[in-house]
Amino acid sequence: MSVEAQQANVARSPSIAGVVRDAWAGSLPERYAEPRTSVPFARAVRAQLRPGQRILDVGSGSLPFLAPEDLPEGAHYAGTDISGDELAKAPEGWYHASYVSDVTRRSDELVGSYDLVISNQVLEHVKPLDAAMENMRAYLAPGGTMVAKFSGTFSIFGLINRMVPHKLAVWGLHRFLGYDPEHIFPAHYDHCWDSALRRMLAPWSEVRIDPLYMGAEYLSFVRPLQGLYVGAEEIWARRDVRNLAAYYIVTAKR
Ligand SMILES: C[S@@+](CC[C@H](N)C(=O)[O-])C[C@H]1O[C@@H](n2cnc3c(N)ncnc32)[C@H](O)[C@@H]1O
Repeated sequence: MSVEAQQANVARSPSIAGVVRDAWAGSLPERYAEPRTSVPFARAVRAQLRPGQRILDVGSGSLPFLAPEDLPEGAHYAGTDISGDELAKAPEGWYHASYVSDVTRRSDELVGSYDLVISNQVLEHVKPLDAAMENMRAYLAPGGTMVAKFSGTFSIFGLINRMVPHKLAVWGLHRFLGYDPEHIFPAHYDHCWDSALRRMLAPWSEVRIDPLYMGAEYLSFVRPLQGLYVGAEEIWARRDVRNLAAYYIVTAKR
């Protein structure tokens, strides 16, 4: 965007106080028009789908990201997860193959076997993240692509999650946000911020990191607090302070 266009945008934007007031009254900024972060992720994944691809969904467990009708013609879709129990809960027949595998440990049978590796809300749960990234790169065939979405270390939930014991986090997420405890897993948020990711992804041939400044959902049960949070988030969204993004979508070529 040109400098003039950016200045015009800023001139049109409401003041930060206005953003806080609106959020307090229940109206979130434009970037929340589609509040589910799975939507931009689905868009990023769809852009990479090709007929006949071999696709690996890392940490897909009970919830494969791609339904059979989403798969391109002739695609092979495999799921992996550290938990065999999670994989067993997936809808029958959605995976063509599944593997119990910890993404931080190299599984030789997966090396060089996939054209596309996808991963939704898994990488904040793994440590060390650099080992996981290297393994996902190894699982790609030459020219292959990874698309991954995960939460940021400095997101409000990332910070709270690391301050409180896991059991308390599960209780809070269930009590206040109605999350199913079965779908809440311990998280590490290991190096999940833009500059750390860029260092980690240096061996990849192409890297695109899209920050999502969309962490307000977790405070929806206390509107005034959510308003204040959205005001702060608005500042770093306008200044594109990427290390503070609530989520990242990483698209990288092997
Ligand atoms: C929040 S769930 C996300 C599930 C699914 N990808 C989705 O779109 O909802 C996180 C998943 O990551 C898996 N997981 C956690 N640590 C892992 C690891 N080191 N290697 C592979 N999977 C892991 C968990 O078992 C769980 O199924």
